[in-house]
Amino acid sequence: MRLIAANWKMNKTPGETKDYIKKFLPLVSDLRDREILICPPFTSIPASAEFLKGTSIKLGAQNCYFEDSGAYTGEISIPMLLELGCEYVIVGHSERRHIFGEDDELINKKLIACIEKGIRPILCVGERLEDREAGMTEKVVETQLRIALSRLENHTDSIDIAYEPVWAIGTGVPATPEDAQKVHRFIREMLKSINSNFENKTRILYGGSVKPDNAGEFMKKEDIDGLLVGGASLDPESFARIVKSF
Ligand code: PGA
Repeated sequence: MRLIAANWKMNKTPGETKDYIKKFLPLVSDLRDREILICPPFTSIPASAEFLKGTSIKLGAQNCYFEDSGAYTGEISIPMLLELGCEYVIVGHSERRHIFGEDDELINKKLIACIEKGIRPILCVGERLEDREAGMTEKVVETQLRIALSRLENHTDSIDIAYEPVWAIGTGVPATPEDAQKVHRFIREMLKSINSNFENKTRILYGGSVKPDNAGEFMKKEDIDGLLVGGASLDPESFARIVKSF
Protein backbone atom coordinates (compact mmCIF):
# COMPACT_ATOMS: atom_id res chain seq x y z
CA MET A 1 0.00 0.00 0.00
CA ARG A 2 1.31 3.44 -0.81
CA LEU A 3 2.40 5.57 2.14
CA ILE A 4 1.86 9.30 2.62
CA ALA A 5 3.72 10.56 5.69
CA ALA A 6 3.62 13.89 7.51
CA ASN A 7 6.82 15.06 9.18
CA TRP A 8 5.80 17.91 11.42
CA LYS A 9 9.38 18.59 12.56
CA MET A 10 9.48 20.91 15.62
CA ASN A 11 5.91 22.13 15.20
CA LYS A 12 2.62 21.74 17.10
CA THR A 13 1.96 21.58 20.82
CA PRO A 14 -0.43 18.90 22.14
CA GLY A 15 -3.28 21.45 21.97
CA GLU A 16 -2.50 22.33 18.36
CA THR A 17 -2.24 18.62 17.59
CA LYS A 18 -5.76 18.03 18.85
CA ASP A 19 -7.16 20.85 16.67
CA TYR A 20 -5.30 19.53 13.63
CA ILE A 21 -6.49 15.95 13.98
CA LYS A 22 -10.10 17.05 14.53
CA LYS A 23 -9.98 18.95 11.24
CA PHE A 24 -7.98 16.32 9.36
CA LEU A 25 -9.96 13.15 10.14
CA PRO A 26 -13.21 14.03 8.33
CA LEU A 27 -11.21 15.06 5.23
CA VAL A 28 -9.66 11.60 4.77
CA SER A 29 -12.19 9.28 6.40
CA ASP A 30 -13.22 7.64 3.10
CA LEU A 31 -9.71 6.56 2.08
CA ARG A 32 -8.86 2.89 2.61
CA ASP A 33 -6.40 2.16 -0.17
CA ARG A 34 -3.39 4.10 1.10
CA GLU A 35 -1.52 4.35 4.37
CA ILE A 36 -1.46 7.72 6.13
CA LEU A 37 1.21 8.39 8.75
CA ILE A 38 1.67 11.35 11.10
CA CYS A 39 5.04 11.98 12.78
CA PRO A 40 4.57 14.70 15.43
CA PRO A 41 7.26 15.90 17.82
CA PHE A 42 7.77 13.56 20.81
CA THR A 43 5.75 15.74 23.18
CA SER A 44 2.67 15.56 20.93
CA ILE A 45 2.77 11.79 20.44
CA PRO A 46 0.42 11.01 23.38
CA ALA A 47 -2.18 13.55 22.18
CA SER A 48 -1.90 12.17 18.65
CA ALA A 49 -2.38 8.62 19.89
CA GLU A 50 -5.46 9.67 21.84
CA PHE A 51 -7.15 11.46 18.95
CA LEU A 52 -6.16 8.94 16.25
CA LYS A 53 -7.44 6.00 18.28
CA GLY A 54 -9.88 3.85 16.31
CA THR A 55 -8.78 5.33 12.95
CA SER A 56 -6.51 3.72 10.38
CA ILE A 57 -4.02 6.58 10.52
CA LYS A 58 -0.60 5.47 11.77
CA LEU A 59 1.64 7.20 14.26
CA GLY A 60 5.38 7.64 14.02
CA ALA A 61 8.29 9.51 15.62
CA GLN A 62 10.91 11.69 13.97
CA ASN A 63 13.94 10.17 15.65
CA CYS A 64 15.04 7.60 18.24
CA TYR A 65 18.15 6.40 20.04
CA PHE A 66 19.44 2.84 19.66
CA GLU A 67 19.82 1.97 23.37
CA ASP A 68 16.73 0.98 25.38
CA SER A 69 17.52 3.05 28.48
CA GLY A 70 20.41 4.58 30.37
CA ALA A 71 22.45 7.75 30.79
CA TYR A 72 21.67 9.42 27.43
CA THR A 73 20.34 12.81 28.43
CA GLY A 74 17.75 14.16 26.01
CA GLU A 75 17.33 10.94 24.01
CA ILE A 76 14.18 8.83 23.46
CA SER A 77 14.31 5.04 23.08
CA ILE A 78 12.37 2.69 20.84
CA PRO A 79 10.53 0.91 23.74
CA MET A 80 9.31 4.36 24.85
CA LEU A 81 7.92 5.02 21.37
CA LEU A 82 6.33 1.58 21.06
CA GLU A 83 4.54 1.98 24.37
CA LEU A 84 2.96 5.22 23.09
CA GLY A 85 1.66 3.47 19.97
CA CYS A 86 4.27 4.48 17.40
CA GLU A 87 4.61 1.97 14.56
CA TYR A 88 7.11 4.00 12.54
CA VAL A 89 10.18 6.13 13.13
CA ILE A 90 12.06 8.41 10.74
CA VAL A 91 15.81 7.68 10.87
CA GLY A 92 18.62 9.78 9.42
CA HIS A 93 16.57 12.77 8.32
CA SER A 94 18.82 15.34 6.64
CA GLU A 95 18.21 17.81 9.48
CA ARG A 96 19.48 15.16 11.94
CA ARG A 97 22.50 14.62 9.71
CA HIS A 98 23.36 18.23 8.94
CA ILE A 99 22.20 20.21 11.99
CA PHE A 100 22.84 17.58 14.66
CA GLY A 101 25.81 15.78 13.13
CA GLU A 102 24.42 12.26 12.80
CA ASP A 103 26.62 10.08 10.62
CA ASP A 104 25.96 6.93 8.62
CA GLU A 105 27.39 4.68 11.35
CA LEU A 106 25.02 6.05 14.00
CA ILE A 107 22.13 5.75 11.57
CA ASN A 108 23.10 2.11 10.97
CA LYS A 109 22.96 1.41 14.73
CA LYS A 110 19.54 3.03 14.93
CA LEU A 111 18.24 0.99 11.98
CA ILE A 112 19.45 -2.27 13.48
CA ALA A 113 17.79 -1.35 16.79
CA CYS A 114 14.51 -0.54 14.97
CA ILE A 115 14.50 -3.92 13.24
CA GLU A 116 15.38 -5.81 16.43
CA LYS A 117 12.76 -4.04 18.53
CA GLY A 118 9.95 -4.10 15.99
CA ILE A 119 9.36 -0.52 14.88
CA ARG A 120 9.35 0.19 11.14
CA PRO A 121 12.07 2.66 10.15
CA ILE A 122 11.86 5.19 7.33
CA LEU A 123 15.49 5.70 6.36
CA CYS A 124 16.16 9.09 4.76
CA VAL A 125 18.87 9.55 2.16
CA GLY A 126 19.67 12.36 -0.25
CA GLU A 127 22.42 14.47 -1.74
CA ARG A 128 23.36 18.10 -1.11
CA LEU A 129 23.35 20.67 -3.90
CA GLU A 130 27.13 20.53 -4.30
CA ASP A 131 26.95 16.75 -4.65
CA ARG A 132 24.32 17.05 -7.37
CA GLU A 133 26.26 19.74 -9.21
CA ALA A 134 29.36 17.56 -9.10
CA GLY A 135 27.41 14.65 -10.59
CA MET A 136 27.73 12.71 -7.32
CA THR A 137 24.06 12.08 -6.52
CA GLU A 138 24.17 8.31 -7.04
CA LYS A 139 27.51 7.90 -5.31
CA VAL A 140 26.29 9.80 -2.22
CA VAL A 141 23.02 7.90 -2.04
CA GLU A 142 24.81 4.59 -2.55
CA THR A 143 27.24 5.29 0.31
CA GLN A 144 24.40 6.35 2.63
CA LEU A 145 22.45 3.18 1.81
CA ARG A 146 25.38 0.77 2.03
CA ILE A 147 26.50 1.99 5.46
CA ALA A 148 22.99 2.45 6.87
CA LEU A 149 21.97 -1.06 5.80
CA SER A 150 25.16 -2.88 6.69
CA ARG A 151 24.68 -5.95 8.92
CA LEU A 152 21.06 -6.08 7.73
CA GLU A 153 21.81 -8.20 4.67
CA ASN A 154 19.76 -11.17 5.84
CA HIS A 155 16.88 -9.71 7.72
CA THR A 156 13.38 -10.15 6.37
CA ASP A 157 11.41 -7.36 8.07
CA SER A 158 10.17 -4.34 6.23
CA ILE A 159 11.75 -0.94 6.09
CA ASP A 160 10.91 2.10 4.02
CA ILE A 161 13.24 4.62 2.42
CA ALA A 162 12.70 8.31 1.77
CA TYR A 163 14.71 9.96 -0.97
CA GLU A 164 14.97 13.59 0.07
CA PRO A 165 17.44 15.72 -1.87
CA VAL A 166 18.76 18.18 0.73
CA TRP A 167 18.47 21.14 -1.64
CA ALA A 168 14.75 20.44 -2.09
CA ILE A 169 13.83 20.30 1.61
CA GLY A 170 11.93 23.36 2.76
CA THR A 171 13.11 25.41 -0.22
CA GLY A 172 10.00 25.38 -2.40
CA VAL A 173 12.17 23.87 -5.16
CA PRO A 174 11.29 20.17 -5.52
CA ALA A 175 13.16 17.71 -7.70
CA THR A 176 11.37 17.13 -10.97
CA PRO A 177 9.31 13.93 -10.89
CA GLU A 178 11.59 12.61 -13.69
CA ASP A 179 14.79 13.25 -11.71
CA ALA A 180 13.24 11.76 -8.58
CA GLN A 181 12.14 8.68 -10.54
CA LYS A 182 15.71 8.12 -11.76
CA VAL A 183 17.10 8.15 -8.23
CA HIS A 184 14.25 5.97 -6.96
CA ARG A 185 15.02 3.40 -9.66
CA PHE A 186 18.69 3.51 -8.67
CA ILE A 187 17.76 3.00 -5.00
CA ARG A 188 15.58 0.02 -5.91
CA GLU A 189 18.42 -1.58 -7.85
CA MET A 190 20.78 -0.95 -4.92
CA LEU A 191 18.34 -2.53 -2.48
CA LYS A 192 18.14 -5.61 -4.68
CA SER A 193 21.89 -5.98 -4.54
CA ILE A 194 22.05 -5.46 -0.75
CA ASN A 195 19.21 -7.74 0.33
CA SER A 196 16.66 -9.27 -2.03
CA ASN A 197 14.01 -9.15 0.71
CA PHE A 198 14.08 -5.37 0.45
CA GLU A 199 13.32 -5.33 -3.24
CA ASN A 200 9.57 -5.75 -3.20
CA LYS A 201 8.69 -4.89 0.37
CA THR A 202 10.46 -1.56 0.66
CA ARG A 203 8.51 1.51 -0.29
CA ILE A 204 10.57 4.39 -1.62
CA LEU A 205 9.05 7.76 -0.72
CA TYR A 206 9.95 11.10 -2.25
CA GLY A 207 10.36 14.12 0.03
CA GLY A 208 11.36 17.75 -0.54
CA SER A 209 8.91 20.59 -1.20
CA VAL A 210 5.96 18.31 -1.91
CA LYS A 211 2.80 20.45 -2.19
CA PRO A 212 -0.85 19.73 -3.03
CA ASP A 213 -0.29 20.85 -6.63
CA ASN A 214 2.79 18.71 -7.37
CA ALA A 215 2.10 15.58 -5.26
CA GLY A 216 0.04 13.84 -7.96
CA GLU A 217 2.84 14.13 -10.54
CA PHE A 218 5.30 12.37 -8.23
CA MET A 219 2.80 9.61 -7.48
CA LYS A 220 2.44 8.82 -11.20
CA LYS A 221 6.05 7.62 -11.35
CA GLU A 222 6.67 3.90 -11.35
CA ASP A 223 9.19 3.78 -8.50
CA ILE A 224 7.67 6.47 -6.26
CA ASP A 225 5.65 4.56 -3.67
CA GLY A 226 4.75 7.45 -1.41
CA LEU A 227 5.65 10.88 -0.07
CA LEU A 228 7.27 12.36 3.02
CA VAL A 229 5.86 15.83 3.51
CA GLY A 230 7.20 18.56 5.80
CA GLY A 231 5.88 22.11 5.51
CA ALA A 232 2.78 21.26 3.50
CA SER A 233 1.68 18.70 6.10
CA LEU A 234 1.26 21.34 8.82
CA ASP A 235 -2.10 22.47 7.55
CA PRO A 236 -4.76 19.73 7.68
CA GLU A 237 -6.45 20.78 4.44
CA SER A 238 -3.18 20.96 2.54
CA PHE A 239 -2.07 17.54 3.83
CA ALA A 240 -5.47 16.03 3.01
CA ARG A 241 -5.17 17.34 -0.56
CA ILE A 242 -1.76 15.68 -0.86
CA VAL A 243 -3.10 12.41 0.53
CA LYS A 244 -5.91 12.53 -2.04
CA SER A 245 -3.76 13.69 -4.96
CA PHE A 246 -3.62 10.30 -6.70
P1 PGA B 1 9.47 19.86 3.14
O1 PGA B 1 10.24 18.82 4.11
O2 PGA B 1 8.25 19.12 2.61
O3 PGA B 1 9.10 21.01 4.02
O4 PGA B 1 10.41 20.20 2.04
C1 PGA B 1 10.32 17.46 3.82
C2 PGA B 1 11.09 16.75 4.89
O5 PGA B 1 12.05 17.30 5.42
O6 PGA B 1 10.76 15.60 5.24
